[in-house]
Amino acid sequence: AAPLRLGLAGLGTVGIGVVKIVQAHADLIAARAGRPIVITAVSARDRTRNRDADLSGYAWEADPVALARRDDIDVFIEVMGGSEGAARLATEAAIASGKDVVTANKALLAHHGHALALSAEAAGRVIRFEAAVAGGIPVIKALTEGLAGNAMRRVMGVMNGTCNYILTRMQSAGLPYDVVFEEARQLGYLEADPNLDVGGIDAGHKLSLLAAIAFGTKVSFNAVELEGIGAISIDDIRHAADMGFRIKLLGVAQMTGRGLEQRMTPCLVPDSHPLGQLQGGTNMVVLEGDSVGQIVLRGPGAGMGPTASAVMGDVIDLARGVRMPTFGVPATRLATPIAAHTATPAPW
Ligand code: HSE
Repeated sequence: AAPLRLGLAGLGTVGIGVVKIVQAHADLIAARAGRPIVITAVSARDRTRNRDADLSGYAWEADPVALARRDDIDVFIEVMGGSEGAARLATEAAIASGKDVVTANKALLAHHGHALALSAEAAGRVIRFEAAVAGGIPVIKALTEGLAGNAMRRVMGVMNGTCNYILTRMQSAGLPYDVVFEEARQLGYLEADPNLDVGGIDAGHKLSLLAAIAFGTKVSFNAVELEGIGAISIDDIRHAADMGFRIKLLGVAQMTGRGLEQRMTPCLVPDSHPLGQLQGGTNMVVLEGDSVGQIVLRGPGAGMGPTASAVMGDVIDLARGVRMPTFGVPATRLATPIAAHTATPAPW
């Protein structure tokens, strides 16, 4: 069968992770996909940087929009990041020029996912974004495929590993926020704009995407109640621990009688709950469906291997001919949610 040809926009951690998987597992991937998967062209801002990967076989484009428009690619992979600018223009260009899209960009989809889904579906194209939510955890697949027979009751989760690292480290080492924040910076955990992490925005983006799929509603990131972790003190953490609780940056989305509730805020979580026990830079997503009950998924929410793993899962599905609408139902059928702003009590 004809190979599926990839154009890879972004050669940072995730992009190089994709290159490594494609190169290391060519036979395994071809067997599973039913056809070879090859990278034909790549783009990144800086061509000269040493990336510890052999890119010599790939055509080079300086401009991701030019990459998106190339005739020799079938799928445009966007792992650049950013909700505006090049990422948005290139994704739109890919759809307009007949490419399917695989993206890790939660900010782009949280802000423009509905419009992008509408234009992709009008053009007969597919957008997939497993890597955008909880990194390596296959939560989009779980919701859109395995749990498709359920009415979802609630989705919850810890979806920013950096915040979870900061909060668990404050507790275990008894160190104040500012010191641990600096540690996280040194370790390279923080986004270029750290407020995306500690302000709860990155996790809020992910929650809004999960809510859209779980409840069949248009992505409504602007309706997420957001509060970051910057005001949490070591005393808050100690007092919570004395009462048998951990403080977690927890996202909860549920459909209530008053509308769709979406909040990403620091919460008291019982020590004994799996969410309370989550350590370090890990993610956890809890899915509750009317038939299945509760499912807990835990795993790496960031990093080269895990995020590239999610990208490749989507790519292999495309190679197999899986053509699912972006949010699991056609974008024209997604309801406009009413935002419920009064928080219901905690689920424990
Ligand atoms: N900054 C994010 C995190 C990376 O810490 O989880 C993955 O989106």
